[in-house]
Amino acid sequence: MKPNIKNIAVLTSGGDAPGMNACIRAVVRTGIYNGINMFGVLQGYQGLITNNIIPMDARSVSNIIHLGGTVLKTARCLEFKTDEGMDLAYEHLKLHQIDALVVIGGDGTFTGARRFAQRHHINVIAIPGTIDNDLYGSDFTLGYDTAINTVIEAIDKIRDTADSHDRLFFVEVMGRDSGCIALRSAIACGAEAVLLPEKATSLDELIKQLEVGAATKKSSSIVIVSEGHKQGGAYDIAKHVKEKFNHYDTKVTILGHLQRGGSPSSFDRILGSRLGYAAVNELLKGSTQQMVGLRGNDIRLTSLDEALTEHSFKLESDLLEMTKVLSI
Ligand code: F6P
Repeated sequence: MKPNIKNIAVLTSGGDAPGMNACIRAVVRTGIYNGINMFGVLQGYQGLITNNIIPMDARSVSNIIHLGGTVLKTARCLEFKTDEGMDLAYEHLKLHQIDALVVIGGDGTFTGARRFAQRHHINVIAIPGTIDNDLYGSDFTLGYDTAINTVIEAIDKIRDTADSHDRLFFVEVMGRDSGCIALRSAIACGAEAVLLPEKATSLDELIKQLEVGAATKKSSSIVIVSEGHKQGGAYDIAKHVKEKFNHYDTKVTILGHLQRGGSPSSFDRILGSRLGYAAVNELLKGSTQQMVGLRGNDIRLTSLDEALTEHSFKLESDLLEMTKVLSI
């Protein structure tokens, strides 16, 4: 049965990701096109708790499609995890007569959305927005493509200086639990090795690989380390390697939060637009507690239950093996 939805709110939560603004624009304009009153919640779930909710019209999302970050701001909100926080958030939604919610974020955002929808029977659609690309049910998450291009641009520059000085660089990229950024950027940058959170790599094996490179006249090398690697970050790994393999001068670069910013790629602008458009249309059809995601080239629904229980990034061992072969 189609619900009688008159007012929809949109929020961004967790880590920001390029393409969120394109997505907010699509949500707001699709709602308005369908005669819905649209609202924006500032600072994610925190804004629901503090009643930081503003009306949005078509012009309020003009000239944002090309901007990184999120015009709605974002936060990681601990209070929303409590029953009291959720109840207060619901009171504020009722104050504005908001019937349904679109949330854009990662797994923390989805967990909050599912609990909130179950506790207060409010219709919710979630959109995968995180540079980590670690949500089950969508081949790509919003922001991942831009982030990986940012990483590639940075590592290309590092390679220039690594090559000029004959140095070994350890470059740390984001991804607490997911090695997706690390693996794909390793392929795209032609890195000599990559260390992922999903795979325990023996440092002896890494050293052996670097020794073979040095013996076959590799003058410089780049090793990409995912921040979530179990044996430590880039500084720890560099220290361990240097103790046993001192052939090159060694340097460490942490790319950090620069991976989260910047103007979204065409891919993320289009993905954000498609997901935002689909999210509102799904709410109007009566869907709830679902994620809209991209599978193949189609927009598909995945229940929040499934999106949150299935493991997203199954380590693509073939790609890992390929990076080894291509970096000899
Ligand atoms: O989830 C996105 C992400 O950028 C992760 O890759 C990273 O581990 C984390 O957020 C960093 O979070 P914060 O900006 O809160 O330090």
